Amino acid sequence: MRLIANPSGRSLAGELKVPGDKSISHRAVLLATLADGVSEIRGFLAARDTEAMAAACRLLGAGIHNRSDEVLEVVGAGLHGLRKPERPIDLGNSGTAMRLLAGVLSAQPFSSRLVGDHSLSARPMKRVIEPLTAMGASIASDHGTAPLSIAGGTLSTLEYRSPVASAQIKSCLLLAGLCAGVEVSVQEPEVSRNHSELMLASMGADLKVQDLRVTLRPVRRLDAVDFQVPGDPSSAAFPLAAACLMPDSRVQLSGVCLNPTRTGFLQTLDAMGARVEVHNQRTVGGERLGDILIAYCGTLKGLDVPPEWVPSMIDELPILMALAATADGRTRIRGAAELRVKESDRIAVMARGLATLGVSLEEFPDGIDIHGGPVAGGRVDAAHDHRCAMSFLVLGQAASAPVAVDSSEMIGTSWPGFRTEMVRLGADIRSAGGES
Ligand code: S3P
Repeated sequence: MRLIANPSGRSLAGELKVPGDKSISHRAVLLATLADGVSEIRGFLAARDTEAMAAACRLLGAGIHNRSDEVLEVVGAGLHGLRKPERPIDLGNSGTAMRLLAGVLSAQPFSSRLVGDHSLSARPMKRVIEPLTAMGASIASDHGTAPLSIAGGTLSTLEYRSPVASAQIKSCLLLAGLCAGVEVSVQEPEVSRNHSELMLASMGADLKVQDLRVTLRPVRRLDAVDFQVPGDPSSAAFPLAAACLMPDSRVQLSGVCLNPTRTGFLQTLDAMGARVEVHNQRTVGGERLGDILIAYCGTLKGLDVPPEWVPSMIDELPILMALAATADGRTRIRGAAELRVKESDRIAVMARGLATLGVSLEEFPDGIDIHGGPVAGGRVDAAHDHRCAMSFLVLGQAASAPVAVDSSEMIGTSWPGFRTEMVRLGADIRSAGGES
């Protein structure tokens, strides 16, 4: 699918409630499935990735009732009550769903098979297969990628030092220990998002967090709790960036997750000179959230992004690259090799697209240097990656001519309402057929 961003010169104005956080929505439905009792999930992200996780949980025996698109009632199967899925579990494009479920399913008394789309089938799964195998799991895969055939069985305790800061690896192993009833300890090189830890603790799990190490000890059951999913900061990054690009813009985003493991992009905007205010900070269900007000304040300054900020903004780096293309001076991103194994190789896809739009840049194995300046129109390819597609469409608002973005259909994996909401705020994004 091709979408076209037209540089209308219009400012963006208004209020927006960004969709529910994707990471927290995945975890809410999976943990509710593992709990004893009935959980209500409000603010659930109704998008292809999280719906794939919910469908998987149904196949594993949870009773999931949609009270509305964003409110789910989940009747848990309990830690030891999952049932063998009657067919392979198709997780579409979702790496989080596949890696978290690999942990849960490795500890079950039945076999299962996890499959995904073309992109997911190319993503590295050895990073979970190896530590799960060290616990005694039996997982067959062709080249360390999906499909994964999981035999299921008893697992033993694990002390693991992860080579990458990855919440998916950490959560996978904690869930394997939880389901197998064994102690698991995971140490990371830098802190990754900690939603699993917060949510598990609220359900009665026995967790200890010391600096970069998380230890989970066995418990007999998880208590069902109600979850309120905050707005996704990774989706919020698109309207925030658009407001920084379009003169006179003023946008308010309500109820955005401000968990400190997710605020790297806000910190970066601030360091680039953007005018960002956070109001009404509150804690709901263990997660910090707040309302964000952003107003256009002229050209942003390029920045050397400190590599230690990268894990807390890993999914926002494509839109940061788009912003950097218009900033004053050079923006340097390093320590971001993980971007090469996301839904696409995001360094390569963004570099190729930005170069097509006349942006001067140099690509590195773990990052990119971008020299800001005028951005031309043109035709770019999002490589079926939702975040690259949205990044080019936002940047197109500030280009000198229309930007056509091919392979944009995956936007629905994280934010099906992206185009409608951005158009409501004042952006001009049309389908190739002309409908705005
Ligand atoms: C996620 C963790 C991150 C992130 C992904 C969602 C999660 O991946 O990029 O979009 O929900 O745990 P890694 O854990 O591989 O860094």
